Amino acid sequence: MEVINVNLEAVGVKHSQYPGTGLPEVAFVGKSNVGKSTLINAMVRRKALARTSSSPGKTRTINFYNVENLLYIVDVPGYGYAKAPKSEIEKWGRMIEEYLEKREELEAIVMLVDIRHEPGQNDILMYEWLKHYGYDIIIAATKVDKINRSQIQKQLSVIKKKLNLSAQDKLIPFSGVSKAGVEELWDVIENIVGIEKNN
Ligand code: GTP
Ligand code: MG
Repeated sequence: MEVINVNLEAVGVKHSQYPGTGLPEVAFVGKSNVGKSTLINAMVRRKALARTSSSPGKTRTINFYNVENLLYIVDVPGYGYAKAPKSEIEKWGRMIEEYLEKREELEAIVMLVDIRHEPGQNDILMYEWLKHYGYDIIIAATKVDKINRSQIQKQLSVIKKKLNLSAQDKLIPFSGVSKAGVEELWDVIENIVGIEKNN
């Protein structure tokens, strides 16, 4: 998809603050600092629309990016950020859980894992929890620019095995730096959400 029009339309921590347009939503989830906001910028071809940071815990609200009035890309705070106060962590946990569990407009989830590492216990729990709710899940194995080409297949197998991915789950190597995987990810999302932009 060639994105021309995109804007941060809503920022919220509870249901009443989320958009009421009924457009389909695709949420980006994953460990804190894995690269969710960076991936979103790559997908909408903006350098810094979604705020990124080298230290974890940057995104703390649920952010809805309206893309061409066709769908929302939703930036969700990361999990596993241990340094925040416990009360904050619990608050985010509830907010994320409620959004993922109850949001009717949510049609697909992109879960990010770092291609360099074996998925952790948090990732496994999140994946299984999302599966349980019946979502179509796309795994984006990100930061692929940080490993050698020859390592890619091996790392993808590690992720597949550790998360116990099913045959219909998509696993896409991605990089916010080289932009590898952008088109493939859009194709999969467009298919699931059933949109096509004429341009
Ligand atoms: P939270 O909002 O804290 O949950 O983090 P996030 O998942 O949104 O991560 P963010 O996009 O802020 O990126 C975290 C760090 O990883 C930043 O320093 C990014 O520049 C870096 N980063 C993200 N994606 C990539 C990538 O594909 N390649 C490389 N080399 N660095 C990346
Ligand atoms: Mg972020």
